Amino acid sequence: MIGDIPNNVELESDALLKRALSGWHPHFLNWWREVGPEGFDTAQVYLRTAISASADGWATYGYVAMPEYRWGIFLAPPQARKIGFGDEADSEPWQAVPGEFRKELRRIIVTQGDTEPASVEQQRHLGATAPSLYDLRNLFQVNVEEARHLWAMVYLLHRYFGRDGREEAEELLVRRSGHQDHPRLLNAFNAPIRDWIDFFCFTMFTDRDGKYQLASLAESGFDPLSRTTRFMLTEEAFHMFVGETGIQRIAQRSSELMREHGREDLFAVGGIPLQILQKYINSWFSESLDLFGSEDSSNAATYFAAGIKGRYREGAADYYRDHRALEGEYEIRLPGGASARIPMRRAMNAILRDAYVDDCERALKRWNAVLGKSGVDFRLYLPVISFNRKIGAFATNPTDPEGRALSMEEWIARRGEWIPTGGDGAGGAEVLKPVRGRGKMAGWIARPERGINNLPLDYEYVHLS
Ligand SMILES: [Fe+2]
Ligand SMILES: [Fe+2]
Repeated sequence: MIGDIPNNVELESDALLKRALSGWHPHFLNWWREVGPEGFDTAQVYLRTAISASADGWATYGYVAMPEYRWGIFLAPPQARKIGFGDEADSEPWQAVPGEFRKELRRIIVTQGDTEPASVEQQRHLGATAPSLYDLRNLFQVNVEEARHLWAMVYLLHRYFGRDGREEAEELLVRRSGHQDHPRLLNAFNAPIRDWIDFFCFTMFTDRDGKYQLASLAESGFDPLSRTTRFMLTEEAFHMFVGETGIQRIAQRSSELMREHGREDLFAVGGIPLQILQKYINSWFSESLDLFGSEDSSNAATYFAAGIKGRYREGAADYYRDHRALEGEYEIRLPGGASARIPMRRAMNAILRDAYVDDCERALKRWNAVLGKSGVDFRLYLPVISFNRKIGAFATNPTDPEGRALSMEEWIARRGEWIPTGGDGAGGAEVLKPVRGRGKMAGWIARPERGINNLPLDYEYVHLS
């Protein structure tokens, strides 16, 4: 029943919205049953559910069968704010969609909305190979929250975009990740997530792109979009935690096995060779860079000028001096070791991307600290931004992970040295064996530091019936 949807958007008193969502709801449930987590419909999962948007205690924890999860619609509390950037800087935020930016806003919301169900589809088979009940539960937490993010975007489409909004909301349930005829809109969301190393890299690198996109939309002059994305960011933090700590736990376990067995080829002893982990990092990091779009972008300039999409932390007091960005240039790297200076507004994608890369570097340092402490020499790294790109100036000018130029033929012949190919995943058969006992952990990954919601690690996070 749509009336039971937890929300703070006064759904009860908005008859039009209620009718639109009531029509969409059964289609959503069909979508979940068809392409949501496979094989766990009756499992009782210890999940967090958003029940309000208040800073203290917006969530409640308890056992839920996933098809009965209470997906809600929440906006972060209203803030006294002005538009913080672009030509509209210092004017009042918009409570309705300005006619002249309607098309752009709809496109941004649909593009963001499309990624949410896509990731659920990409991850649907992972339950079968989870390394522990703790990890299984975290996977499902990410899945239900991504589905809630779909609700968040559908709310905006239904509430503010009339008939074409409703049509777009239906389309969000029709496209499918990796489908030949109607794929998801962005490449990284059509890439297969075959195993848990993919999953941790996806939540580390691709969800983190989401953080930067949402953060720049949280600055938007369209206030409902700002408030929606601000609340989504509170959930996104957990997804990135899953990814960052997941990779850290692999690094830790692999280094233990390397010392114990005195070898790097860990597949034979049930671990993940660090060279293989590096390949996955190369692949998902570069795939995620493409999500920022072209470094030099007139669309990005338009969005910024219009007050639709700002920079990361545009609203923070001390982050940028010039919020109109009419002056100055930004340096972007070009093939062949060259660089160019482009007008600041055209560089918004590159500016957001560079903030993202810094954030990723921070995680790399933590992983390498774990490796350093355990006494192995191997260090993980991020490939340079020219590596494995499908968008921007480097799409037709491939390089290796250190930035050495390659001909297209060389790239095609050698890319298996740097990104996973069929054999790499299959070699780690242990990664494909589920571990389901309370408190048990697969041999290829270290135990996490603590459980969920202050519960012990041997808690029954998923009750399999
Ligand atoms: Fe999301
Ligand atoms: Fe996410």
